[in-house]
Amino acid sequence: MKTPVIIVNFKTYSEATGKNALQMGKIIREVRDETDAEIIAVPQFSDIYQVASIGAPVFAQHIDAIVPGSHTGHVLPEAVREAGAIGALINHSERQLELPEIEAAINAARRAGLISVVCANDITKASAVAALKPDFVAVEPPELIGSGIPVSKANPEIVSGTVKAVWDVAPDVGVLCGAGISKGEDVRAALDLGTKGVLLASGVVKAADPKKALAQLVGGV
Ligand code: G3P
Repeated sequence: MKTPVIIVNFKTYSEATGKNALQMGKIIREVRDETDAEIIAVPQFSDIYQVASIGAPVFAQHIDAIVPGSHTGHVLPEAVREAGAIGALINHSERQLELPEIEAAINAARRAGLISVVCANDITKASAVAALKPDFVAVEPPELIGSGIPVSKANPEIVSGTVKAVWDVAPDVGVLCGAGISKGEDVRAALDLGTKGVLLASGVVKAADPKKALAQLVGGV
């Protein structure tokens, strides 16, 4: 995966579920091909295979730190890898884990050959998870998620503070930020603060014209 990266989380929005997930994946692939920007789709588990099959790079929204065997209802990292995912979000604000579970999930991602992006609500948590050496840490203040108020402009201190804190603990771990990002200028501000990209959802998935919204976001890279 190249950086800077724009990671588009489909969450469980109906606009990006089932047939609509496929459509959103096509938009991501098209904008990626047309602009050469790195853009990742994060559909629900049930849509990973179909979105990956059309050539869009895909992450899973979560993985469980389990091994093959008796774990009904869990998400096996190797299964999402085989379905076509190249990475996974871990500890998203809407799917939080305890620190030992985060560590186990990072190790499970590594075992399965998945890129790990661990989310954190604040600088302290970001620093704690960076010490576990995921590939990326994404800081997302929960109060700004879905707000349309971009973290990179409303709270630049949390972004630059996370970049510094992660650098102090694990200089090889890349920092991303998310929450309220919807414009190219929000992406530019995030990159100027030292991040390697952004994580976003509603700015694209809920946009009247998702392709136009994504192309506009890519303009900030
Ligand atoms: O995973 C990204 C997400 O939590 C941010 O959501 O809608 O504020 O872009 P949104």
